[in-house]
Amino acid sequence: MSKETVHRVQAAWKKDALIDDETYLAWYAESVRDPDGFWGRHGRRLDWFKPYTKVRNASFEGEVSIKWFEDGELNLSHNCVDRHLEARGDQVAIIWEGDDPNEGRKITYRELHEQVCRYANVLKSHGVNKGDRVTIYMPMIPEVAYAMLACTRIGAIHSVVFGGFSPDSLAGRIVDCESHVVITADEGLRGGRKVPLKANADKAAEIAAAAGNPVHKVLVVRRTGGAINWVDGRDVWLDEAARAASPVCPAEPMNAEDPLFILYTSGSTGKPKGVLHTTGGYLVHVSMTHQYVFDYRDGDIYWCTADVGWVTGHSYILYGPLANGATTLMFEGVPNYPDASRFWQVVDKHKVNIFYTAPTAIRALMGAGDEWVRKGARRSLRLLGSVGEPINPEAWEWYFHVVGEGRCPVVDTWWQTENGGILIAPLPGSTDLKPGSATRPFFGVVPEIVDNDGAVIEGVGAGNLCIAQPWPGMMRTVFGDHDRFVETYFSTYKGKYFTGDGCRRDEDGYYWITGRVDDVINVSGHRMGTAEVESALVAHEKVSEAAVVGYPHDVKGQGIYCYVTLMEGEEPSDALRKDLIAHVRQEIGPIAAPDKIQFAPALPKTRSAKIMRRILRKIAEDDFSALGDTSTLADPSVVDDLIANRQNRK
Ligand code: WT7
Repeated sequence: MSKETVHRVQAAWKKDALIDDETYLAWYAESVRDPDGFWGRHGRRLDWFKPYTKVRNASFEGEVSIKWFEDGELNLSHNCVDRHLEARGDQVAIIWEGDDPNEGRKITYRELHEQVCRYANVLKSHGVNKGDRVTIYMPMIPEVAYAMLACTRIGAIHSVVFGGFSPDSLAGRIVDCESHVVITADEGLRGGRKVPLKANADKAAEIAAAAGNPVHKVLVVRRTGGAINWVDGRDVWLDEAARAASPVCPAEPMNAEDPLFILYTSGSTGKPKGVLHTTGGYLVHVSMTHQYVFDYRDGDIYWCTADVGWVTGHSYILYGPLANGATTLMFEGVPNYPDASRFWQVVDKHKVNIFYTAPTAIRALMGAGDEWVRKGARRSLRLLGSVGEPINPEAWEWYFHVVGEGRCPVVDTWWQTENGGILIAPLPGSTDLKPGSATRPFFGVVPEIVDNDGAVIEGVGAGNLCIAQPWPGMMRTVFGDHDRFVETYFSTYKGKYFTGDGCRRDEDGYYWITGRVDDVINVSGHRMGTAEVESALVAHEKVSEAAVVGYPHDVKGQGIYCYVTLMEGEEPSDALRKDLIAHVRQEIGPIAAPDKIQFAPALPKTRSAKIMRRILRKIAEDDFSALGDTSTLADPSVVDDLIANRQNRK
């Protein structure tokens, strides 16, 4: 092994390993050599209404077409709910932990089945058909699971929009996928504060209607009972309608390649893309990774702290765990409410065995001090997971030693919205751990590191991370824009899926993700296109130009740094700075609020008027030693001015 600190797999983890190292190596080799044989066998972990006879039919060349299990038929909600009824109908499927520690519920598989059927019947009664898009804008309450599973039961395509997005962002997503039904709640509740979901949905519906895409139905779940506006004929209390609906609703047989859901994600250019996932391959991938990466055993209590508004919530709060018949914990709140011991109180209360969270939360809790962790005994914990951004070794060690007391393997899982499920991560019974490395590829995943010219780097080296072969859970297209799919992911390096991440491979063949190499930044595990923040800024009447870059932030991973040039005659001021921050929050949502704004009389541009972001990134990082070649700038003095005036940033 290498000189980097290595946490060797301890005997305890290896004992009864689901996958030992020999098995990992054998299965991995088979999955690459004979994907049809490998996935043909593992695809049978699901219940198929009609078994598939074909396994893989996919190519990264030309038009790019990805099909898995293409002649098979199944239904996701049947696999996640119905098929468990016989053996575990009375087992808890969802433990719901409210924002308020005194609020919670437990939903058995039998109850989940009944609710999903009722919700599905309500959707049908309002005219939702197979293939229709349903937008879901909900807090973290069990009803969001009922709604999502109900869509999948009748073959409607859900598009979940994170509750922290603004009415404008929500409207953009409603219009893009031509959705006419929105499911929401009166208000959300996070850290004791209310989130006006219905009011935001009302505004979004107005914006969508003005854009030619009317919202015909808004189905509302009562969460707080707060006052809301009501549009007769359009708005429906969903919980009431569900109580009145029939609890019987057969699951619709779906083709493996029928669309399952759309999830919008930011890229380096343009509007967010509607990432489209389909049914069969996705569910095989997420159920299999949930079992093996988290070493999931029957009876385990499993908790992923993500929000269902992100792909982690789709794949590893709901679909992976439920496909495996697990008990999954859904948490409405935040890590520091009522205080910074909340996670560990919840772990003790529900005897959580497997805990999966994000580096930003780990760093925030590390900063709060070890005494908060010690308020919980954490004896039930067996495995810890990390996802969303690179985990710095210091945070990894703290997670391992302080939270896990050296007992629990830490699985750092690298993947993306587009991937459907985990692609690079240790398997606890097999992989020796290195703090900060996502380690080795999952079965069927063939990472390649290429240089900027596309030449493949073998062995030790660093470059751009691509995936060379199709895998079952990958996205199939950008909803409504297949050309954009091909252009975004398969045109930079022909014949390969390009991740947008930089990566290093070490002497043990381990992968170390170094972060995005494009104009995407990762703020508290939330992916943000710098172009989106820029266009929000220039939409402000006093702004003439803006350039946005990421900079290292102790807790968030990256912060949002904005260079802003004002219109002729406008003066920089603290009031204007506040106004701009409020403006971006309103346009995109609180998650996009700028951390720093530097007013700049001019931005560094090449003679062909291209903004030189490389230089802006360096200045944001306070690294002036390596500005590189500035001779191609139209006016090199702009850079000196930006450096001289950086004290003014706030
Ligand atoms: C981007 C994808 C995957 C669900 C959550 C984020 C970064 C994600 C890791 C990790 C290093 C990571 C990458 C990736 N990322 N996990 N374990 N180590 N980087 O999904 O919003 O689609 O963002 O998050 O940069 O490209 P997403």
